[in-house]
Amino acid sequence: MIEKKYPVWLDVDTGVDDAAALLVASRLTQLDIRGISAVAGNVELEHTFANTRNVCALAGLHVPVYRGADKPLLRPLCTAAHVHGFDGLGGVVLPESDALVETLPAWDALYAEAVRQRGELQLIATGPLTNLAIAFSKYPDLPGLLKRILIMGGSSKEGNDTPAAEFNIYVDPHAAQAVFKCGAPLVMCGLDVTMQAMLLPDEIEAIGRSGRIGRFFRDSTKKALAFHQANGTPGMCLHDVCPVLYLTHPHLFQGQEAGVYVETQGTVTLGKTVTDLWSDFQFPAKNAFVVLDVDRSAFASLIRDLLTAG
Ligand code: BDR
Ligand code: CA
Repeated sequence: MIEKKYPVWLDVDTGVDDAAALLVASRLTQLDIRGISAVAGNVELEHTFANTRNVCALAGLHVPVYRGADKPLLRPLCTAAHVHGFDGLGGVVLPESDALVETLPAWDALYAEAVRQRGELQLIATGPLTNLAIAFSKYPDLPGLLKRILIMGGSSKEGNDTPAAEFNIYVDPHAAQAVFKCGAPLVMCGLDVTMQAMLLPDEIEAIGRSGRIGRFFRDSTKKALAFHQANGTPGMCLHDVCPVLYLTHPHLFQGQEAGVYVETQGTVTLGKTVTDLWSDFQFPAKNAFVVLDVDRSAFASLIRDLLTAG
């Protein structure tokens, strides 16, 4: 039997959990990764672009990587270097990729690929949504050309960057609002599920004993793991791996359709993803599938198997 390949595009702000998402995606034979774009977020674009190229080289993933936005649409960039390190990879220095440096802007490359895939392309976004918003504004027919958008971002309850907002949405709430309103089918993997999607220290250590990729995974996540533990989370949350594995292994997850809107005006609540999941009031449309739960031990075993294979 020939396995079905899903054409996908990854938009990332690499970042240690984006790096893990890239490594996991590179090991999933169901995925046909057509292109990758980098955006400023966890750290500045110069780092996220280089990190993405270098992680692809480590993974043996020969896919073009495009440069995207170096700042949010309207707000100054705020980063998460205190979690990911100033370089975004927790201080781990990877050999520099010798792949061709792509010069086409991310939004133009994404649009061209969406046209080529004739409605089959799925877009996985694990950073601030600036590149997507720019692409949708330049190419208004793009949402209609995408099969689905799967994002890591938001939360139906509290935030992590502020009491109200999750990091990716808080960094560029205006871009996020454009994406939630774009009309393409949307899967939101927010903190509801990603805070459950954790690997415990001994599980990370076991992966770390398994070769170059495992070692990189363990060493690059060390700083972020310590950050999580200091905040009372017993393991390292692999936020950005969730939309990747939701695409290929949806049975590990549970969720619900909801109306989701992004707060772009509030002072205390800027960047909050407001859902109608828990209220009597219902928004007029259900514009997203909000993922709420994951089978943590199956998630962890799958990641171990993928990162330690071969
Ligand atoms: C998200 O914020 C970033 O720091 C991570 O890479 C992830 O995409 C979690 O809130
Ligand atoms: Ca990220």
